[in-house]
Formats: sequence, structure tokens, C-alpha cells
Amino acid sequence: MDIIKVTSYEEMSAEAAKIIIDRVKETPSITLGLATGGTPIGTYKKLVEDYGKSAATYQHVSTVNLDEYIGLSGDHPQSYRMYMENHLFKHIDIPAHQTYLPDGTAENLMKECQRYDQLIENMGGVDLQLLGIGQNGHIGFNEPGTPFNSRTHIIDLMESTRKANSRYFPTLESVPEQAITMGIQSIFESKEILLLASGQKKAEAIYKLLEGKISEDFPASILRNHLNVTLIADAAALSHTDL
Ligand code: GLP
Repeated sequence: MDIIKVTSYEEMSAEAAKIIIDRVKETPSITLGLATGGTPIGTYKKLVEDYGKSAATYQHVSTVNLDEYIGLSGDHPQSYRMYMENHLFKHIDIPAHQTYLPDGTAENLMKECQRYDQLIENMGGVDLQLLGIGQNGHIGFNEPGTPFNSRTHIIDLMESTRKANSRYFPTLESVPEQAITMGIQSIFESKEILLLASGQKKAEAIYKLLEGKISEDFPASILRNHLNVTLIADAAALSHTDL
């Protein structure tokens, strides 16, 4: 794993955006795997800023997001579709039909999971996957205990995850109890992975990621076996390590 140590959230976001912009330039028809949460917001902001002042185009880019809450439609303010629209899609020239997220309101959720896997396969897999990390080591919404060989599936969110994400909802009760998430195997098959971590809250998770056992009890640990992962982390997130 390559590690880029930065001093701040701002710098982490700038580094991540730079890598994404470079890859899109190199391969205009790239498939980007995108993440939500607080961590990548700064990265998306930098991409939008760059789009406004450079010749960058996303016309041929396709995106697949990691996850979506079950029960929230794409126009729900807390849905991940809405998050992506607000933070990135509506600000750049990516055609709407090239942006994919699981449908959390699909009538047949099992079928929706299969459709999502098929979609990723038809696209030839993800070229560059952007990832955050949960405090319990989750990636996407793959909570501890999720099999490493999992594909897109339905997951019961842990109370701690619902609590952490309740800051985006009016109340804890309104945070959905389930989500559809790309599986760990699907994430692992991405050709390149960019993992972002910022702040003291992530220090324990980053310590376990780098020094702990590779185990399904800590989903992100599988990334140590991947040959092309770059972790961009600030000093606070690295503070439990010797780095
Ligand atoms: C959420 C998302 C993850 C994200 C993680 C960390 O539950 N499903 O994709 O990486 O939590 O979130 P944050 O970046 O807000 O700390």
C-alpha cells in the first residue's frame, strides 16, 4: 500500500482530486467508483473547482457508487443519489445516464443487487475506486463480519454506523436500518483504489488497517492484499501509527 501523508483535510482532498483528474485525462472513458460520507466532500469540491477553470471533461466518464440506503428514493434529501447530484454530478458535464447507484426503492432488492453486479461486469469493472473508511473498518457499507468474497448485497446497518451517519438526518430514528452495498469482492476487483482518511476519529481504524490482522472482522484490512492501493491520510488519522 502506498501512503501519502498530508497535514490537513484540505491537502488530502487536493491530492485525491489531482489523482482523479490525472486518471480521467489519461483515460477519458474511465469508470470511477465513487463514495459518499463526509470524507470525499472536499475531493468533489476540488474536482468541481478544477472543472470550472480547466478544460476537463467528464462526458465519457461512467460512475458507479458503492452504496445506497434502502427505502430512500433518489430525490430524498439524504439519499446518496442526492448527495452525488449536489456535490458533483450537477456541477460537471457527466451525462446522467452514465452515473449509477443502487436503487434503494427497487421492488425486488435481490434482483437489484444482481443487476448492479451485472452492470459493473458489463462496464469491465471499476478502474479507480474512491473509498472512505468507517470507524469500525467498514468500506462501502460492508460491516464487520461481511465475507471477503461478497458481491452486491443487502446489509443491516450497525447501530454505531447509524449513529455516525445520523448527523446528516433530522433524527437517529430516520436513519434507514438497511442499505444495498457493493460487496468486498467487487471493491477488491477495482484496478486501483484511493482510500481517504482524515481526523482523529479515524486514527484507530487506520492503525488497525495498517497493523492489525487481515480479517473479516475488519473489512478494510483486505485492502492490504490489493496491489494498487493508495492511502491518503492526514497526520491526525495516522496518529496511532509510527508514520
Ligand atoms: C458511510 C459510507 C462509507 C463511508 C463511511 C465513512 O457509512 N457508506 O462509504 O466511507 O461511512 O464516512 P465518513 O467519511 O463520513 O466518516
